[in-house]
Amino acid sequence: MEISLSILNIDYNHIEEELRKYKNDIKYLHLDIMDGHFVPNISFGPSVVKSIHKENNFIYDTHLMISDPMKYIKDFVEAGSDYITFHLEAVDNVNEVIDYIHSFGIKAGLSIKPNTKVEELIPYLSQVDLILIMSVEPGFGGQKFMESSIDKVSKLKQWKEEKEYSYLISIDGGINDKTIQSVVPYLDWAVVGSYITASENPLENIQLLKHNL
Ligand code: DX5
Ligand code: ZN
Repeated sequence: MEISLSILNIDYNHIEEELRKYKNDIKYLHLDIMDGHFVPNISFGPSVVKSIHKENNFIYDTHLMISDPMKYIKDFVEAGSDYITFHLEAVDNVNEVIDYIHSFGIKAGLSIKPNTKVEELIPYLSQVDLILIMSVEPGFGGQKFMESSIDKVSKLKQWKEEKEYSYLISIDGGINDKTIQSVVPYLDWAVVGSYITASENPLENIQLLKHNL
């Protein structure tokens, strides 16, 4: 299993230094894009992604928590995204968005909020590269893990095995060395933010997480 590091709450005054800390231990960077409309918070846009992209070799896992993903996908591709994940709740035509992301030759992910049933993903499972289950209400880092997400990732794993689908199963929100234990059998990726970035010993916490993998 891989860790995708959410940098929502790192110190942007010292971004280069912050990212350098993780370069040997973390392969994926999770970029939380918020528009103040789909979620009650605003983060950063493609120009910030582009400027940090030049500095490093991370794989960019962009999580669009925005109301109109079609309008901005191209900008995030050009900014260096390797994966772009959007929300099922945000669009009318899910297939159209998946195809559009794929037209740029990158990976497409689909995410659902805690109140959306995992069964709603079924029509798209053969087409996506990644499913991202939100285990907190999207909008903020540092929230408490919601146990309702355990059943969702477990079903996704079962469907994946039954139908031989290839999507990666990922979870986002409230993951630490304790909460990861209930979901680790079902996951390919875990998105982790504050457990690492708000810690005094971030590299130690990465190792504690990896012990559970
Ligand atoms: C929440 C974001 C998450 C969040 C994860 O809206 O999508 O990626 O930053 O942070 P933690 O691990 O602190 O819950
Ligand atoms: Zn996220």
